[in-house]
Amino acid sequence: MSECYAVFGQPIQHSKSPRIHTFFAAQTGQNMSYTAQEVAPEHFSDNVQAFFVYGGLGLNCTVPLKELAFAYADSKTPRALRAKAVNTLKYQPDGSILGDNTDGCGLVTDLLDNHKLTLAGRRILLLGAGGASRGIIAPLLEQAPATIVIANRTPDKATQLAAEFQDLGGVSGGGFAELNGQQFDLILNATSASLSGQLPPLPDGVLVAGGVCYDLAYGNQPTAFVHWGLAHGAAHSVDGLGMLIEQAAEAFYLWRGVRPDTAELISVFDSERGRL
Ligand code: ATR
Repeated sequence: MSECYAVFGQPIQHSKSPRIHTFFAAQTGQNMSYTAQEVAPEHFSDNVQAFFVYGGLGLNCTVPLKELAFAYADSKTPRALRAKAVNTLKYQPDGSILGDNTDGCGLVTDLLDNHKLTLAGRRILLLGAGGASRGIIAPLLEQAPATIVIANRTPDKATQLAAEFQDLGGVSGGGFAELNGQQFDLILNATSASLSGQLPPLPDGVLVAGGVCYDLAYGNQPTAFVHWGLAHGAAHSVDGLGMLIEQAAEAFYLWRGVRPDTAELISVFDSERGRL
């Protein structure tokens, strides 16, 4: 019998995770199944408990369940503790549940390995101060950028978020207005604005000529922020599909101890989106 894995979220019907993990399982010869289940926050604990009681070995948790998964896990990896959110749960041999967060690692792997970017010494602008931003700051700081500036519609949230990570490197926070006159090599969009086609108010000249724009969101069409990057002189302006695949690969590795080859799957998705 195959071993069971799943993703919980709400909404979940458009999730690409079942396809990604099924691809990885076939590629690495792992006997496992991976399904998607719509789970409302109020039913989260019951559903997770039932999943593991009936023999499930690992879960991904996505929006809006990552903080609940953090609270549910019996133990957490250091990177999950920093993110205060969990996207991966793993059944341990002693029956306890381990919580991990593979989002930040997925982003950094996509930036470095797939897009061949250097983060060391770069000036990074991070848009948004919600859960998506929180999960990626520590892994980005590990790459020793010159600075990370967090800009948010509600400036206080950015200031507070920056303060939480100051022990790890140069990071500051504020509002969009404070970006006037500043320039960045890489702009990461971690606001939820892009999903509804909206953009944060960014001053002209905030992206250095030939810089990079990266939207953590993704879709079958380029997002509003990817379009913004292309219109403002970016050498690369890409969405977060690579991050999704890389965070999945890291979860797969945690569960199965085998690292899938992501390049093959990325090229499948890219050709489907007409980018080859
Ligand atoms: P997530 O977990 O996806 O980060 P979140 O915690 O709700 O979701 O955070 C959403 C982020 O997108 C916040 O930084 C939010 O700004 P506020 O803190 O001011 O609410 C940002 N955001 C959402 N809609 C936005 C918009 N139209 N323009 C700019 N920022 C927006």
